[in-house]
Amino acid sequence: MELNKAIQNRHSTKRFKDKKPDWRDIIECIDATRYAPMAGNNFTPQFILVDDEKIIQKLAEAAQQNFISEAKYVVVVCSNPSRTLNAYEERGEMYVKQQVGASIQNFLLKIEEAGLSTCWVGEFVDEQVKRALKIPAKIYVEAILPVGYDLDKKREKKPKIDIDRILYFNKYDNKKMRPPRKLGD
Ligand SMILES: Cc1cc2nc3c(=O)[nH]c(=O)nc-3n(C[C@H](O)[C@H](O)[C@H](O)COP(=O)(O)O)c2cc1C
Repeated sequence: MELNKAIQNRHSTKRFKDKKPDWRDIIECIDATRYAPMAGNNFTPQFILVDDEKIIQKLAEAAQQNFISEAKYVVVVCSNPSRTLNAYEERGEMYVKQQVGASIQNFLLKIEEAGLSTCWVGEFVDEQVKRALKIPAKIYVEAILPVGYDLDKKREKKPKIDIDRILYFNKYDNKKMRPPRKLGD
């Protein structure tokens, strides 16, 4: 799939078909996360692929978001921050969050390419997720990604912010680009 198409077609899905995805497709999407940039090339994200219905139900409860329980597979994203925190101390906390985001975006684009759908869920009670999956205390829980086939084929696309609201030139808040200099100026 063309990259631009995957970027623009990706959207969050909260209603899944009953059809179970091929778990190997999901593994391929997780594999793509390995190519995300990482500070000092220390890979901090980790992934738990869940297909146990009872555990999926517990994850839905931890997030208080019932649609999660409709998914046949859920990917829980964690970070093991220790090496990055040792190397970069306070700034390392920020790097861990930034790089898990980069790896999740790779995952989301590959999910789109595979014809699957997901929703990045960030609202949950960490301790409940940790208990359900036996995640050690020092590991961060970053996101819950229920995966399935989108039930709403004709969904309305959510409006996206215009570029002129987020782009400045040369300094913050400056919206005007100077015209390019002529040769000889
Ligand atoms: C960090 C983060 C946390 C999010 N948490 C939730 C969540 O807990 N529940 C949910 O339904 N959607 C969640 N979302 C999905 C956003 O609501 C969604 O991406 C946004 O509405 C834009 O829609 P789109 O993904 O279809 O473009 C989260 C997204 C991000 C990036």
